[in-house]
Amino acid sequence: MSRPKKKIIKKSSTPKSPLPRQRAGRRIKFQAPKGVFDILPRDQRYWERVRKIVKQLANAYRFSVIDTPIFEDVQLFMKGTGASTDIVQKEMYTFRTKGGDHLALRPEFTPGVIRAYIGHGMKNWPQPVKLFSIGPLFRHEKPQAGRFRQFHQFNFEVIGDAAPINDVSLIQLVSLIFKKLGIKGVILQINSIGCPECRPNYKELLVSYYRKQSRKLCRFCRERLKTNPLRLFDCKEEKCRQLANNAPQVIDYLCDECHNHFKEVLESLDELEIPYMLNPHLVRGLDYYTKTVFEFKLEGPNSIELAGGGRYNGLVELLGGRSTPAVGVAGGIERIISILKAKDIKIPQEVLPKIFLVQLGDLARRKSLKLFEELRSKGLKVAEALSKPSIKSQLKAADKLGVDIALILGQKEALENSIIIRDMKSGAQETVPFNKVIIEVKKKLKLK
Ligand code: HAM
Repeated sequence: MSRPKKKIIKKSSTPKSPLPRQRAGRRIKFQAPKGVFDILPRDQRYWERVRKIVKQLANAYRFSVIDTPIFEDVQLFMKGTGASTDIVQKEMYTFRTKGGDHLALRPEFTPGVIRAYIGHGMKNWPQPVKLFSIGPLFRHEKPQAGRFRQFHQFNFEVIGDAAPINDVSLIQLVSLIFKKLGIKGVILQINSIGCPECRPNYKELLVSYYRKQSRKLCRFCRERLKTNPLRLFDCKEEKCRQLANNAPQVIDYLCDECHNHFKEVLESLDELEIPYMLNPHLVRGLDYYTKTVFEFKLEGPNSIELAGGGRYNGLVELLGGRSTPAVGVAGGIERIISILKAKDIKIPQEVLPKIFLVQLGDLARRKSLKLFEELRSKGLKVAEALSKPSIKSQLKAADKLGVDIALILGQKEALENSIIIRDMKSGAQETVPFNKVIIEVKKKLKLK
């Protein structure tokens, strides 16, 4: 007797779906990706406040707004931000398009702004060109307090003028932003990291100092010694900090030009009575800086950096333009807002509506919507609860909002072309013709 033949089940050749499997009836619960978050309505007033002050000052300091794309050619950041920086090595969000382009979500504004300066021939505009941007940036960092994967900066660049007064003017502008926001205790730390003339000599000295004691360095610093020795100053490890404290300081090895530039910056800061702290270990994590570098931090140990910048006289040329000096700074908006909240700094309230529209029935609801727009177009701020069905619940909402008057349009009023004006404090009501409501409201609110 022959054995029954085994049934051969052919494996399906359908490719695996990239979508998560969903069991029938099960709902997938989506969450924002790690390190990014929603800015909810209750927080918008902080954002408005920061944006408003930054924009007002940008305008007063004669900056023009520039919006560059959120993604750019990956090479722009490799060259501009610097191939050996943490940003490029570890933190960039890169992707290939269907057409094969290799792009990156911008991790900072500066390279994109300089690309635009070169590409749009801004060298022919009156110099310096002063550009201001505000918007989101992306860095794949380890999420922690004050460090996000999508965050926002305000950014200023002054391109085409080598004078130290430009460095100082930016510092003054950012100091003023903190002052206007009511944030006290912000410390300016400043240093000069020289230029291609003097820095190579200093780097050699630094490397030879560290080489002699490289065994005492942590594993990351041993790597930094090979790739980016100035970044050895950034390490938080105690043994590396101790070595850094005795290391030669760049400020002692500046060429005459860098020395004089820095001297002038500091003298101007003194003149403007802007306090600063010289920090010989401040080098900043971006490759393009030359001469002045600076950071704003809240006073106290381990405080987080709120804004940072510096001069970058080589970047325009590096990205294909002609040799052009430039200086810039950026501030982190999330970090600034967290200070506003932590210090309970008062944010001016938005002007609340004084009028509430109450309605009942379909005809009244339609007429209310029309009236809402008429009132708005006459400059009157109005609140409504068109989706609430009962007059009682709408009046409750009006009361909660603290409006002066409620305009009540019931079914009867809607048919008779009238409307009730209710004084919310006294509860007194009067009925007026519908077409007179705006005049009557203005009279009641003592508006012209
Ligand atoms: P940066 O120091 O890399 O400089 O960033 C400026 C500010 O952005 C920081 O001081 C910080 O407040 C904020 N920030 C940076 N990373 C994060 C993050 N992961 N989460 C939240 N906030 C963050 C630059 O970006 C330079 N492009 C500044 C500049 C302009 N230099 C010359 N011109």
